[in-house]
Amino acid sequence: MLAAVAVAQNAEDPLSCLELKDVPVPEAAPGWTRVRVRASSLNMHDVWTLRGVGHDPANIPIILGCDVAGVTDDGREVIVYPVIADPDAGAGDETLDPNRALLSERHDGGFAEYIVVPDRCVVDKPAHLSFEEAACLPVAWSTAYRMLFSQARITAGDRVLVQGAGGGVAGAAIALAAAAGATVYATSRTAQKRRLALELGAHAAFAPGERLPHRVDAVIETVGEATWAHSLRCLRPGGAIVIAGTTSGTAPAADLGRIFYQQLRILGSTGSTRHETVAMLRMLEATGLRPRIDRVLPLARIHEGLRALIDGDAAGKIVVAIP
Ligand SMILES: NC(=O)c1ccc[n+]([C@@H]2O[C@H](COP(=O)([O-])OP(=O)(O)OC[C@H]3O[C@@H](n4cnc5c(N)ncnc54)[C@H](OP(=O)(O)O)[C@@H]3O)[C@@H](O)[C@H]2O)c1
Repeated sequence: MLAAVAVAQNAEDPLSCLELKDVPVPEAAPGWTRVRVRASSLNMHDVWTLRGVGHDPANIPIILGCDVAGVTDDGREVIVYPVIADPDAGAGDETLDPNRALLSERHDGGFAEYIVVPDRCVVDKPAHLSFEEAACLPVAWSTAYRMLFSQARITAGDRVLVQGAGGGVAGAAIALAAAAGATVYATSRTAQKRRLALELGAHAAFAPGERLPHRVDAVIETVGEATWAHSLRCLRPGGAIVIAGTTSGTAPAADLGRIFYQQLRILGSTGSTRHETVAMLRMLEATGLRPRIDRVLPLARIHEGLRALIDGDAAGKIVVAIP
């Protein structure tokens, strides 16, 4: 079968480390399910792996792709919950299992015609979503759901700032927070993506660093260094920043004085539990929300999609479809 395989890691030229190869179709071991991949979406995580960030070189080569929608050998239309972990080892929360792995970290991922995953990772695909739409959800939308509802615990009427509206997680956070009755402010570097933020449900959109009309209860942060100071300044006393990513860098000035004096809460967030993914799918069904797709490409053009992600040239998720 055709697969996109990370064969090396290079911080300057990550795309040269991804090869399209013919590899054997995987067999499902007992307790595992084989899924014929119909669509898989791209995430910054794929780029980090190719750059050698947060990915053990001992696990190269590996098939990339952590977002999968497809069909099991026995004909079920499914999405794949992408965290391979033991809930018991995380005191009931599999994202807290010290040995957890996102798909494509230690197990082959979804940029391929077939994938095998633990039975518990298989979740029924909502019938109203296409495979392309469903493939946008497991990583970006589940991460955003956990950030908003389990970490920040936003409620209707809260004010929420989402930094970097053009991103996959950020776009999902805008849509979910607005649907939950929050007032949503968003920032983005381009006018086009600020317009996109408004289409997704933001009440107002700003250039990075701009003053907001009001301080906010929560900030959804995945940009990191470039927006951190603004995120801290925008919070009301006692407000929370939930951080799940650092696309622009990991080491901003901490501004500790502001954090203790304003009693700010800084919450890290990674992935989602299976339960949160299922709840997010139910929320989409209840609200009619759908992920916004920037473009759909064949697997053979995956380098082009990853290039657009690196260049910040995507307004919505980029999907690889495997007919
Ligand atoms: N912890 C987790 O479980 C988890 C899950 C998913 C993703 N992540 C991480 O979260 C981050 C976002 O992931 P994604 O897949 O949503 O990425 P993405 O779709 O590629 O989005 C990239 C984002 O970065 C912003 N950005 C990039 N460089 C910037 C800069 N110099 N200044 C300001 N904004 C900048 C873009 O904002 P504009 O609108 O301004 O272009 C956009 O929001 C990544 O670092 C990823 O690894 C973590």
